[in-house]
Amino acid sequence: MVKKNACVFISGSGTNLKALIKSSREYNFPVNISYIISNTKTARGLSLAKLYKIPYQILNQNYKLNLKFTLRELKKRNISLICLAGYIKILIKNFINKFNGKIINIHPSLLPKYKGLNTFVKALQHKEKLSGCTVHYVNDKLDSGRTILKKKVFINSNENENTLKTKVQKKEYMAYSEAIITIYRSISF
Ligand code: GRF
Repeated sequence: MVKKNACVFISGSGTNLKALIKSSREYNFPVNISYIISNTKTARGLSLAKLYKIPYQILNQNYKLNLKFTLRELKKRNISLICLAGYIKILIKNFINKFNGKIINIHPSLLPKYKGLNTFVKALQHKEKLSGCTVHYVNDKLDSGRTILKKKVFINSNENENTLKTKVQKKEYMAYSEAIITIYRSISF
């Protein structure tokens, strides 16, 4: 199977990146994680780039310069899918337009509920019975693009932020890979 090239954007621990790298090593997974971008050099997930010998780029603060360089790099590397995995910066409109329909994100709530940050606290405060994660396309509005798939978890009566986070993240690791399989099953590139 000829795999497409995917780039993962990170900012933090990179546990979703790790799950994606593992999936990408399966012979029938549609993409290969061939590039990693972080907005900060302190992202722990960058250790995975080194471990798995995946080229990476750390963004500097000069937005315009960055955008130009990044676009050129992604084109050069023939990247056909961008996966945001805990990437905390908002992508600018121009960048989203250039990769229209090819940027996806994983969010730790059942969208459209609880966009933005602190999703677990919000779900607990609202006494939700269910939480989960959503993989969705990225558009220029926060956590609002079309849903690809959701995975649910039950919230117990003694749940706290940490236990809920652990439960949801476990689902995320499956959800992201499943979503990518779903995308490539339905599109002929
Ligand atoms: C995940 O929970 C994801 O849903 C959210 O940010 C977190 C990133 O965690 N967007 P990690 O860096 O993949 O460990």
